[in-house]
Amino acid sequence: MSLLKELEKDLKEIVKKAGYEVENLAIEPSNRRDLGEYQLNDAMQLARTYHENPREIATKIVKELEQDDRFENINIAGPGFINISLSEKYTVDFLNKMNEDLYNNIDKRDKKKVILDYGGANVAKALHVGHLRSANIGEAIKRLARTLGYEVLGDAHLGDYGRPLGFVVLEIQKMYPELPYFDPSYTGNFEELTLPITNADLEKIYPLASQKAKEDETYLEEGRQVTAKIQNHERGYYDLWKKVVEISKEDIKQVYDELNTEFDLWLGESDGAEYFEELKNIYEEKGLLQESQGALIIDVSEEKDISPMPPLLFVKSNGTISYETTDLATILQRKKDFDPDEIWYCVDNRQALRFEQIFRAVRKVQLVRDDVVLEHIGFGTMNGKDGKPFKTRDGGVMSLKGLISLVTDETRKRINPETVPEEEREEVAKKVAIAALKYADFLPYRETDYVFEVEKFADLEGKTGPYLLYSTIRMKSLLNKAKEIPAKEIKKIQGKTEKDIALVLLELPNVLNKALEVRSLNDIAEYLFNLTSLYNKFYAEHKIITEEKSELRESWIVLTNLVYQVNSLLLDLLGIDVPEKM
Ligand code: ARG
Repeated sequence: MSLLKELEKDLKEIVKKAGYEVENLAIEPSNRRDLGEYQLNDAMQLARTYHENPREIATKIVKELEQDDRFENINIAGPGFINISLSEKYTVDFLNKMNEDLYNNIDKRDKKKVILDYGGANVAKALHVGHLRSANIGEAIKRLARTLGYEVLGDAHLGDYGRPLGFVVLEIQKMYPELPYFDPSYTGNFEELTLPITNADLEKIYPLASQKAKEDETYLEEGRQVTAKIQNHERGYYDLWKKVVEISKEDIKQVYDELNTEFDLWLGESDGAEYFEELKNIYEEKGLLQESQGALIIDVSEEKDISPMPPLLFVKSNGTISYETTDLATILQRKKDFDPDEIWYCVDNRQALRFEQIFRAVRKVQLVRDDVVLEHIGFGTMNGKDGKPFKTRDGGVMSLKGLISLVTDETRKRINPETVPEEEREEVAKKVAIAALKYADFLPYRETDYVFEVEKFADLEGKTGPYLLYSTIRMKSLLNKAKEIPAKEIKKIQGKTEKDIALVLLELPNVLNKALEVRSLNDIAEYLFNLTSLYNKFYAEHKIITEEKSELRESWIVLTNLVYQVNSLLLDLLGIDVPEKM
């Protein structure tokens, strides 16, 4: 249990000794620090329950608090607010405990098995900015949930199904008709073949094929047939499709790698689609599939709807499975393979309606147990200065690789050539770029849109990823220099800045908890900035290593170590790597 939770539990006991029961007691940092560090507002609530004067209740509680040497500066303000501060002894004590075992100071939750669906990159297509936030936010939520005790499986859920891929395979057939994949008499092993096509080719073939399909009826029909062949696992076509997925996956993996995004499962829409027949039977048996203009739909409207809820398109009028149905089928697949307690989708807010349709359709047939939580963790877009989703200069879709290199061009300029040798500079610049991109992405609440401003994101000063990296590296280098100085524990907390740091550190478990509750990283991003700026203020106020009083020198080194540990933990949670130098 965290020290903060322990403190709250003990305070509850103290209130009980004063003669009152409170259900939940939370100590809130006071916004009037001159009156006390924390405020207890429970007397006001208790006055209503016990029909007593709040000030009298507060007086009784204060009497008990005064017996406890963890608190000092106890006073009552206004009608019955209690202000308290933590004693130096207690503060020193908890800082040392935290420094010894940071992990233990985080409150764990009941273990739940969660499948987190994030990523969503499409095979044979370049990852674009739209996939950035899913990777950033999804990865961080995965790490956060794990830290707080959940068992989380991250699934890339690749877009590897459907007509676009049929067209890609068709186009390859047109380009290389002699390939064994199209030769019915070929009896060899397809897996051993190498395809004369790279990922870069695929990224060109894809738009070319879709363009042709738009202009040419026969091509469209051929593409449909190829898609059907793939979906029916027809020898040759299916094997070529697998090859295309493999080639593309390599490249997708590389981009996710740069973003420090690691999936446990590399499944895709096609893995769910295998369950389509079974899924269809389930809905058919309950009479839920209706015909509508040649398509099959499921009515998912409910009486309580204030705005109209369109039906879920189950099978399109051309006979193919809709995107919604791939998600329904994937839920069935996940239930069978993993039996999760919860499934979370970290996907753009623009897909909110379709997730509502999907979840309602699930409940109609209890595709999963009613107590299995299905949650869409939506997010806003990263926009250009025009307020529209960020584009390239000529108005095209910005690829994720392009975006990373754009930011790297900016961070490269800020790497210190004296500390980072030439051969390491590019790698460092990239790490700093990822930090810049990710941190800027986490700062606003996830559902809020934000504007891409590369100079601002890459700035070494201000609320930025590079500022946090720079400061954290400096803490580490101080600790390296202090290696020979014996420093085991904090002995004294004397200045105001140190006390401020201590109070922020005490809040850590609450910040993590709240972040997971709202599934947003913004409070963690703010917290990191607060803690780091306070530490930098403290760093400027003292000459830590050369301080003559050993008691202070030791305390300051250990405090540095603790802040460094917390920064490292939180940056890692956010999926941000700290380079050795920058
Ligand atoms: N591939 C989709 C896209 O690029 C995103 C997939 C989101 N996840 C899901 N389960 N539908 O838009």
